[in-house]
Amino acid sequence: MSGDMPAAAPREKGANALDGDAKPWTKIHGRIVDISRFQHTHPGGNIIQMFKGIDSTTAFEQFHGHHPGAVKMLNALPTKEVAAAEVLPQVGAGHSLLHSRLLQQIKL
Ligand code: HEM
Repeated sequence: MSGDMPAAAPREKGANALDGDAKPWTKIHGRIVDISRFQHTHPGGNIIQMFKGIDSTTAFEQFHGHHPGAVKMLNALPTKEVAAAEVLPQVGAGHSLLHSRLLQQIKL
């Protein structure tokens, strides 16, 4: 029933719990990409914030692997230095965190 569906998550800065995350970066193809600014302008919206602190290579490839514009945009984003132990992998802990963030967003 559409009447019971939660309203779309607001995009404004500060209005989304994921904006407050202390890890404004993601890892793609072995590079830590600084998305502290890009997370608010990503053309696909705030789904990118789900992947903060997590390796998002697979998600990036799934949605953008064959999109030259997205790859070009990715390459233009700044790199960040982060200790390897801080980066959560796509599976295991990273997957669990992603899962809990998704549940939080859709408010089951
Ligand atoms: C940090 C690197 C990323 C860059 C440079 C990037 C870039 C883009 C661009 C250019 C678009 C618009 C595509 C179009 O108009 O056809 C887009 C859309 C989108 N992005 Fe990203 N993106 C990134 C990461 C991610 C991640 C990690 C996800 C996770 C799932 C994601 C999910 C999406 C979705 C769902 C859309 C809308 C649907 C689509 O166009 O395929 N993006 N992104």
